[in-house]
Amino acid sequence: MRDVTLTRYLIAKQKFHPEATGEFTDLINRIAFCGKLVARELRRSQLAGRTGSAHHENVSGDEQKKLDVVANDIFVTHLEYGSIVTLAASEELDEPAVFATERERGSYVVCFDPIDGSSNLDVNGTLGTIFGIRRRRAGSLADLFTSGREQVAAGYILYGPATQFVLASGGEVAVFTYEGETGEFFLTQDRLRMPTKGTNYAVNEGNSHFWHEEMRRFVANLKTPDPKTGKTHRTRYSASLVGDFHRILLEGGIYLYPEDTSDPAKPNGKLRILYECHPLAFVAEAAGGRASTGKGPVLDVIPEKPHARCPLAIGSESEVALYEKYVRESE
Ligand code: F6P
Ligand code: MN
Repeated sequence: MRDVTLTRYLIAKQKFHPEATGEFTDLINRIAFCGKLVARELRRSQLAGRTGSAHHENVSGDEQKKLDVVANDIFVTHLEYGSIVTLAASEELDEPAVFATERERGSYVVCFDPIDGSSNLDVNGTLGTIFGIRRRRAGSLADLFTSGREQVAAGYILYGPATQFVLASGGEVAVFTYEGETGEFFLTQDRLRMPTKGTNYAVNEGNSHFWHEEMRRFVANLKTPDPKTGKTHRTRYSASLVGDFHRILLEGGIYLYPEDTSDPAKPNGKLRILYECHPLAFVAEAAGGRASTGKGPVLDVIPEKPHARCPLAIGSESEVALYEKYVRESE
């Protein structure tokens, strides 16, 4: 596997699609290139004094950090040229960016969260970029208000001790790891499968006061020793959805950001459907895992506006099914 670069992997897959124009391969390579640029910015940020707030809130009311803005600009710049992308919607853009002109119409719609887990920026913690790709249909904003099953590919870039690119496409999940000397992403895990049951759970328990009763009961269950093994689930929460999800993809378990009563303006939890929930749900399902709102698959949720949110319970089949049972029983 060590000699399979991301480009080689994509070219091999492209052979199964005789109709392919090479645009998809170009798009994935551009996203990976943006990941390299973001990783470089992150490595330098403390030395260059580019930490801290941009003194502005994004449209969702989150404080924007300087690097949120830098990373967003990187992605917009490299998605814009050459009529590949018709529409780019970002967590950090008030309105989606429309790149298509009458004459040149790109084939893809890209939704992304340029830096996920921004609270980790100033503390040198794990961060990520999340992306989901749809085909252009109407060629208007209507292309965003569709099911997550419209995605043709999705994935994330994990900025940890190593930078990794995780891609779900064609029903398979592959992990590529960046090598600085060559500037390449190399395939390090192919056809990844999520364990059907795990021992980790990731949730901000500081919010438990605001949770609904069934959520409290579910987490209490995870902390109760399993009658067969005598073991409980382990808490693993890093404030980086990408980092926490990646652990669960590899080791199994569940990540939750449920609905709560902390803010009447945000009854559906914190995470955004298009930039976070749909893409990671697509990765989870491609790896044999699940993603649910508690009431049904996240991929079936249709956002009514670009920055709409939904509750997320994502991970192993067993834990997500158990969570849904608690939600059903509370109804
Ligand atoms: O983008 C949302 C996010 O930063 C996720 O990466 C992370 O899991 C979550 O928010 C952390 O939120 P909180 O600080 O409320 O636990
Ligand atoms: Mn995010």
